[in-house]
Amino acid sequence: MLTGQTALVTGASRGIGAAIALKLASRGADIAIIYAGNSAAAEETAEKCAALGVTARCYKCNVADFAEAKATVAAVKADFGGVNILVNNAGINRDGLIAMMRESDFDDVISTNLKGAFNMIRHCTPMFIRAKGGCIINISSVAGVIGNAGQTNYAASKAGLLGLTKSVARELAPKNVRCNAIAPGFVQTDMTKEFDDSNPMVASIPLGRMGTPEDIAACAAFLADEGSYITGQTLCVDGGLAM
Ligand code: NAI
Repeated sequence: MLTGQTALVTGASRGIGAAIALKLASRGADIAIIYAGNSAAAEETAEKCAALGVTARCYKCNVADFAEAKATVAAVKADFGGVNILVNNAGINRDGLIAMMRESDFDDVISTNLKGAFNMIRHCTPMFIRAKGGCIINISSVAGVIGNAGQTNYAASKAGLLGLTKSVARELAPKNVRCNAIAPGFVQTDMTKEFDDSNPMVASIPLGRMGTPEDIAACAAFLADEGSYITGQTLCVDGGLAM
């Protein structure tokens, strides 16, 4: 159980992030919900977490902004006393073929998906070190593991997260801070609303179906609650797509 711990989950207003927030709350963790803009959806997630008997609060923050991330982590620390579990889930895609990809689409995806995770880890790490422990979970993607045509920017950001995960894991292991990545395959959320089980990409998934946000949340809860000897790893939660 995670009772007495605080989990900060970015992009937790909907999709995979909301499912992770709820799952960690079901294990007893208090939840800091970081959202980009949709306060109504964030409040809805907070209410569902609170209904499980934990404290949940919402914080509006663009994770790509170093100063904003710093102020948000400070606010969470003031409200909860610290952070024990950090889940870097916020992410965007701006897909396109490499020959036509706009520079801004490359920069935006790297800023949110990769620098956003760096920002949150950078600002939470002093707390983890003082607390003599912590758990970081970065939500990568199978695109970062095996690549994906039309997703050069996204795959680069998600592969970057894997290098970041391993380096942070090596650097902070002596401080009892673990850092792992989850690489989801195709998961039913707003990000993949054009996919359904009839899509040929979906037909190529060995387990024969898209994942659910709860499939990913179960892995995050495992890493946070039962993975005390696991660090620097990437767990593919993808129905067998990337094996
Ligand atoms: P989603 O689009 O439903 O949710 C993404 C969340 O991130 C939203 O709440 C959004 O507001 C937030 N966000 C975006 N930019 C932000 C910023 N600058 N600052 C703060 N929050 C920001 O997407 P979904 O599917 O739930 O994705 C969650 C994570 O899982 C992402 O990192 C995504 O890349 C990853 N993923 C998703 C897969 C899928 O098939 N849905 C597959 C592999 C990875």
